[in-house]
Formats: sequence, C-alpha cells, structure tokens
Amino acid sequence: MSTPSNPQAANSPNADANGNLAAPRSCKVSASAHGEPPSPAGKRPAPPCTLVIFGAGGDLTKRLLMPALYNLAVDGLLDGGMQIVGVNHGERETSAWCEELHQSLQKFAADKASTFHAGKLDDSAWDWVAQRLTYMAGDFDTPDTFARLKQKLAQAPGGNVIFYLAVGSRFFKPIVEHLGETGLLKEDGGFRRIVIEKPFGTDLASARDLNAHILSQAKESQIYRIDHFLGKDTVQSILAVRFANALFEPVWRREYIDSVQITAAETIGVEGRGKFYEQTGAFRDMVPNHLFQLLGMVAMEPPNSFDAEAVRNKKAEIFDAILPLTPNDVVFGQYEKSATGVGYREEPDVAPDSKTETYAAARVFVENWRWAGVPFYLRTGKRLAVRRTEISVQLKPVPFRLFRDTPVDALTPNVLTLRIDPAHGTSFDFNVKTPGPVMQIGPVQSSFNYGDFFAERANVGYETLLYDCMLGDETLFQRADSIETSWCAVDDVLHPKTGGAMPVHGYAAGSEGPAEADALLARDGRAWRPLKTNAIEKK
Ligand code: BG6
Repeated sequence: MSTPSNPQAANSPNADANGNLAAPRSCKVSASAHGEPPSPAGKRPAPPCTLVIFGAGGDLTKRLLMPALYNLAVDGLLDGGMQIVGVNHGERETSAWCEELHQSLQKFAADKASTFHAGKLDDSAWDWVAQRLTYMAGDFDTPDTFARLKQKLAQAPGGNVIFYLAVGSRFFKPIVEHLGETGLLKEDGGFRRIVIEKPFGTDLASARDLNAHILSQAKESQIYRIDHFLGKDTVQSILAVRFANALFEPVWRREYIDSVQITAAETIGVEGRGKFYEQTGAFRDMVPNHLFQLLGMVAMEPPNSFDAEAVRNKKAEIFDAILPLTPNDVVFGQYEKSATGVGYREEPDVAPDSKTETYAAARVFVENWRWAGVPFYLRTGKRLAVRRTEISVQLKPVPFRLFRDTPVDALTPNVLTLRIDPAHGTSFDFNVKTPGPVMQIGPVQSSFNYGDFFAERANVGYETLLYDCMLGDETLFQRADSIETSWCAVDDVLHPKTGGAMPVHGYAAGSEGPAEADALLARDGRAWRPLKTNAIEKK
C-alpha cells in the first residue's frame, strides 16, 4: 500500500503553505528520491525479479494472477527484466501454457460478470507478459524439481525471486521445506520471498504448526501471507475514510457507536468446491480471516505512519483484544433446496447428511478502551438473497428526544455504510425535516459511488498485492502473530469444550439466512440490515 504523500498535514505547525508536513521524524528518504521518477499515478515500476508460480495450471493462476500481471504490465509497473516461471505437474511446452493463459485471459476480459472485465485485451501488454513466461514441469514434493529450479534461477535478475504458492494447502509445508533445503531462500544479494494463500491452517494448532515450519526455513520478513480482501481498493479505502476525514474519527468510538455489522453475502453456492468446503465450512473459510481483516481495518487505532509495521501493529492489537468467541456468540446455517436453487447436500462431493455450515453469523467484542461493549456482528453465507460485502457502522441515538411532540415514532439511526462489493462506495443514512408545514422528520440516504468519480479500471484485486510484494511492502499481508491470535479467538467455536459440535440450522437457498441468526441480534434488541435492500425508500 504505497502512499505518495502525507494527506493529514494541513494544520500541523510543521506544515508548509500547501499543507505538506516536514520530513517525518524517522527522516526516511522517499522512494522517488532514489532517482527513478514516479509514473503519473505516483508509482514506479517494481524492481526486477523472477516470479515462480507453483500451481501454474491452476484456477488462481488463470483467474487472478495472470490478469493481475497483465494489468500491472498495462500500467507499466513491471520491470523489463522480469521473468515468470510456472511450475506444475505434467509435461507441457511453454508455448502451450502461454496459449492456455491467453485464452482464459481473453475469456475473462470479455466476461462482464468477471472481476476482470477489461474489454478487449491490449495485445502489446499481453505480448510483454507472454515473452517472459517459462513453463517447468515438476512435482511439488520431489527434490529434483527444486534442484532444476535452482539452476534456472541462477540468472534471476538482481537475484530477486518471489515464490508464489498458488497450490492446495497440503503443499505449503513440502514446498517451503524443499526451497529451504535447496538453499533457494538464502538472500545473497537479492530478495527471496514466499507468497502463501489462505487457508493458513484450519485452527490455532495447525496455524502454529505451519508458521513454525515455514519460519524454520525463512525469516518472517520473507513471508507474504495473502488475504485477498486486503487487495480490494474499497477495503484499503476504509483507512482513507477514517483517517483522511475530520468528520468520522471523533465519533468512531464506543461513546457514539451503537454497533457495527460486517456482511459478506454471496449468491453463489460452493461452485464445484464441495470437497474443500466439506472440510472447511463458511466459518473457517471467511470469519477468522476475511471478516476479521475488515473488523481490524474498522477498529484499529490510527497508526503513526503507513509503514507496514506501524499498520500491522495496530491491527494486531485489535485481534489480540477480541474476546474469545463462545458457541453462544455464533450461529451456523446450511442452505436447503428452494425455488431459487439446490440445497447444499445435493451439491457434488457433498455428503447427503453433511453437517457443514454454509452460513455463519457471530457477535464479536473488542475489549479495549475504544470499543468495550460495542458489538460487531459478522455474517457470511453462500446462496443468500444478494451478493453484498459491506460494513455498516450504526451510531447511537441522539441524547434527547427534541422531536417528541412531533409525529415521529422513532428517529432512524445514523448509519455509515462502507460498500466493498459489488457496489463500491459509501452511503450515510440520516434524518431531515420532510417538506411541508408540519415539523416532521424523515430518513434519507446520501451515497457516493466510485464509478461516479473515478474511471472504472480492470482490477482483479491482486495487482496491489503482487506489486507490493515486489516492492517489499508488507502492509497488506498478514503477520504470523495476527494469524494465530485470530485463530485463537475462534478456537472455542471450532473445538467446543462442552456441548458437542455447533448446531447447523437450515435456511432456504436465496433467503436472508437462518432465523437463528436473527435471534442472535434480537437478543440484544437489534436486527440485521436487510440484505435485499439497504436503500432508504424515496417517498
Ligand atoms: C474466498 C473463499 O477466500 O473468498 C470463497 O474461499 C469466497 O469461498 C471468496 O467465495 C469471496 O471473495 P470475494 O472477493 O469474491 O468476495
């Protein structure tokens, strides 16, 4: 997350006439001062490196990594010396791999429903990427693969190599072990970095074990644990909304905030991932990672700077302050057949009596000075009524019912909603006087949509993550301690000490989730924001 300039300077006694702050105390020299002029977007090409993708034939490579590399090439953010080596089981020519990638890129570019709706491909940008591709056949747990890779990497530009593990989690340990044993992680002159996708463990014990294994071969600073939610512009914008505006931060605390709702609702089912999902379930798949990351961005204290460690320390404090969830704070659901679609148990590779949850809701408390007593309600699920990822921050009611003698039953609460996907923007619900001779109050909504202000860009969400990894900026990646504290907070739900496994309640495919999730909030005198619409109706 590179930050071209300091946005919050205007009133500082150290600010110049344009409101720019004097050099920060650490007196770091800005990147552009090293001689490379920044591009018009304020960014410069990443340093030369070789990107080794384990899992070159997989879905992640086709759907996300290649489109992201292509987009970075379009923006001129990759170095001319870059090389991309794809490793996968099975012999195949580089030209065949290249053709396969080109075809899927063309398909995704034309598909309006995909995140990569780039329209027509820029042939010169694709050629630029294609010229740098090399395919290497190899098993992920055979020493010979790594010996051959070492030979190939002897000429890596600048000695810089990124190993991207776009593979099933069972391969994380063997790949990192082989890389270490072959000496491929030694930083003699250039950098050596490992990118690891989620799932990073399946609970606290397995995450600790995986961290320990990886850290026996590489330093923490070499490890880039991805949570793709952090690659989304709208997620990174949470910090901009909070810390670049004077309006929000003063009320961003327990004295003014009633509760926060974080929703990641999907309309899709398990999409052929039955085997994975049967072992994972919605809670492990989404809660201690994606939803906790959103919670961290909303709840963290302002960091002193946007340095990776400053930001990650503040987020780590939040994960550490999460009160361990109990089964009583959580509701699990599973979608059932309805007019909208099949039930989960009818999906391929799913047991007919499966008890795996496809929906999870949780009430979370962050026990610190700012947030004590404020509930954060989290929910996620497959085959729900709409696709919507958003965060709604509800403010407390006004302190005095000044309008009690007017025809107003109850004032609608102020709610700031940060829309992550598929809508990108914010909305704010507030009250005004309705037109007419009577003093009557009515709720209204003011909205900001990114598309109204900024040109749409083809962006699959991995561009920033890849670019930051090449630059060595770890701000948007997860540190070992935060992964473990997050799993720790949910351990009692995953392994209940009493009462057996969590009950799983049915909900109709295409609905708003199980009734028991409504009861979770009703218990506190609150209700979920409706999924079907969160717009205030025009009168
Ligand atoms: C992934 C989960 O990490 O995130 C999927 O494994 C889920 O089950 C996906 O569908 C949601 O991500 P996004 O970016 O589509 O909201």
